[in-house]
Order: sequence, then structure tokens, then C-alpha cells
Amino acid sequence: MSDLFTSNEQLIRLIEQYGSPLYVYDENMLRSRCKEMRNLLPNKNFRVNYSAKANCNLELLKIALSEDVDVDAMSSGEIFIEESAGFSSNRIFYVGNNVSADEMMYAVKRGIIVSVDSLSQLELFGETNRGGQVAVRFNTGVGAGHHEKVVTGGKKTKFGVQREYINIVKEIIKKYDLKLIGINQHIGSLILEEGLYIDGVKNFLEIASEFTGLKFIDMGGGFGVPYKEGENRLDLSKLSEKLDRVLTEFLHNYDNKELIFKVEPGRYLVAESGILLGTVYSVKDNYGVKYVGTDLGFNVLVRPTMYDSHHEVKVIKRDGIYGEKEEVTIVGNICESGDIIAKHRLLPKINEGDIIAVMNAGAYGFSMSSNYNCRLKPAEVLLCSNGEYRLIRRRDTFNDLMRNFE
Ligand SMILES: Cc1ncc(COP(=O)(O)O)c(C=O)c1O
Repeated sequence: MSDLFTSNEQLIRLIEQYGSPLYVYDENMLRSRCKEMRNLLPNKNFRVNYSAKANCNLELLKIALSEDVDVDAMSSGEIFIEESAGFSSNRIFYVGNNVSADEMMYAVKRGIIVSVDSLSQLELFGETNRGGQVAVRFNTGVGAGHHEKVVTGGKKTKFGVQREYINIVKEIIKKYDLKLIGINQHIGSLILEEGLYIDGVKNFLEIASEFTGLKFIDMGGGFGVPYKEGENRLDLSKLSEKLDRVLTEFLHNYDNKELIFKVEPGRYLVAESGILLGTVYSVKDNYGVKYVGTDLGFNVLVRPTMYDSHHEVKVIKRDGIYGEKEEVTIVGNICESGDIIAKHRLLPKINEGDIIAVMNAGAYGFSMSSNYNCRLKPAEVLLCSNGEYRLIRRRDTFNDLMRNFE
């Protein structure tokens, strides 16, 4: 384990130097998670697309690039930042969802492969790109995930084209002389049992077998990390073994033996690489609950408020004295009662001025942060492989709040 997660003195120094709240990432951890994913399958035609929505800090993207990882983009903005990080168009996969012709064309003009996720978007693609290459996102009717808001496959979500429409997909492809070069899916997020992912893949391969000549099959992301202490890790070696077996069998019967298999992990690569530091400004009892008031509002980390997500928190005492534990609820500084970062936790007695470290905050942390309540987005710092710390995004200033007003 690196200093980032073990040295309280270092974390105090970082807050003093860069201010609070603060995201801190560990380059070594990010690199090792990238390597694990790159080694998931022995198949030479296997690619990992980092789903940059999880964290699109420019420097983290550059690290992913140097680890031979490709990227997904969910918007033109993500394409823009991925290109700025150095990804060439053939390494970006644009997974659009209900987008305008202009947004599609932003990707097409750059030579980036576009995935459409409805029949109407496929029509739009055909009208604007007759004869072009396209991918289609399917929804097999089965999903998975830690919260209903992140289950993206299945019968109750807006995503993908349902399998019953395969023939209509074929008709539209023919009508516009398109070439279907790939299909993709993403069943949901934070999967901790390999069996769920494999079942999703098996369903998806049934759809794949309906199309000849595909160049790639993208099975989606969703690989989970344990957020709660004691929770089991996703067993990557079992996943690897089972996935390899299923894909080898599929390939055996498929016409294109050079078919590329892709996965789209977001969380798995970055979640554990990041922690969020904040400062305690008030401690109070309100009708029997002890509230620890911090600058960790949901503008900084929305997951607990949005998904009831659990993050382990660590207390860093300024005086170095870790006394008796007591039950507290840690809240932020946003004017909403849902602004709770951690409920009913047993922690060493906390005082004003102490620091709270929120663990596993690297995914869907900064990328979902906002300026709600006109609060400033925090700075991001990287613990580099050489042991040095480097600012990789400065904290917002009041000027950032004003910059779009005439
Ligand atoms: C299409 C798509 N791919 C990949 C991901 C990444 O998911 P995760 O971070 O759970 O790996 C998402 C996230 O929801 C997604 O919508």
C-alpha cells in the first residue's frame, strides 16, 4: 500500500498545501488496475476501453493511455478531452445516447466509431452518413448493478436496442448501405460476482451471432470494487477463466476469427486510486444525532446522496490522539438535508479542525462534482510513481463561477 493511504502526516501536509476539500490520486494504483484489466484475457484481440465518465482528469487519461488502454466517450466533451490527452481517433469509441446529428458528426468527422442506442438514432446516423461504419448498443433485457439508477441493461432502462428489433436494425443498415462493424452493451455498474457478468455476456453473444462480419464485440464495463470493509473483491481470475472459455467457444463458430473483444471499465480502474480529503468545521448534537459538519458537500462527492452509496471514512486527528469511538453522521456544507456523506459511523471522537478522508473516491467523484450552492470545485493532486505530489487540476476560483456571464 502506498503512502497515500497510510501516512496521516502526509495527508495533513497535502490539505495545508493545496487546501480543502481535495482529491488525491495514486498513480501506482491506477497503473496496476489498468494492467490487471489489460491482462484479463489472454486473447491478443482483446482491448480495454477506459470509460472516462468515471474520471476524466487529463493527467489520469494520459496515464491510462500510457498503459495501452483505449477510451470510451459519452459526449463530444469527453472526446475533446480524450484527444487533448493524446488518444487518437482509432482509440476512442463514442457511445452516444439520444444525441443530435451535430454531436454524431463531431465524432464521425474525426474518424471515431459511433455506437447508436436506438432505432431512431440508427436512422439519423444513416441519413447523415450513408455508407458509413456504425456500431449498435443492444439491451438483452437483463441488467445488474448496485442501485436501480446504475442498472443500464434490462427491461426498465432507457438504454440500448431490444433484441426483438434485430431485424429492423438489419433493414435500416441495408437501407442506408451502412456497415455494422460492432455491437456493444453495458448491463450496469458495480458487479462483484463474476457470474452476473458472464451471464450478461452469454445473452449478448446470442445477439452477436445474428450478425456476420462484426469487427468487434464490446461487452461493457461494470466491474465492481469493494467499498465496504470486509466486502469481497471481484474475483478477476475466475472472471478471466470463465470469460475466456465463453469467448473461445463463440469465436470457434464465428465467421471473423480476428474479432476483437472489448470491455469498458470505468470504476475498476480509478475508484481505489482516489481519496477525498475534507475538513471538520463543526460538531453538534441535534436531537440525539451527533453531526460532524465538513466541507464535503454533495457538490464534491454526490454518490452517497444520489445512490445511498457507502464509502469508508477515516479520521485524521490533528492532535494525533485517537480516543474512544462514538457514533456520528458526517455531513457537508450544502443547504439540503440529503447532504450526508456517511451515516451512523463508529469513529474516534472528532473535533473541529480534524480531517476526514473518504476512501475509494476516485470514480464518479470529481467527474460528478458541481458548483451547486456556487461552491468551488476542489483541486486534484496526484501522488506520482516517483513519490512526488503534483497538482493536476487547480481549485476553482470565483472567476470560474463568473466566466460564462457576458
Ligand atoms: C456505456 C457504459 N460503459 C461503461 C460504463 C462504466 O461503468 P463502470 O464504471 O461501472 O465500469 C458505463 C457506466 O455507467 C456506461 O454507461
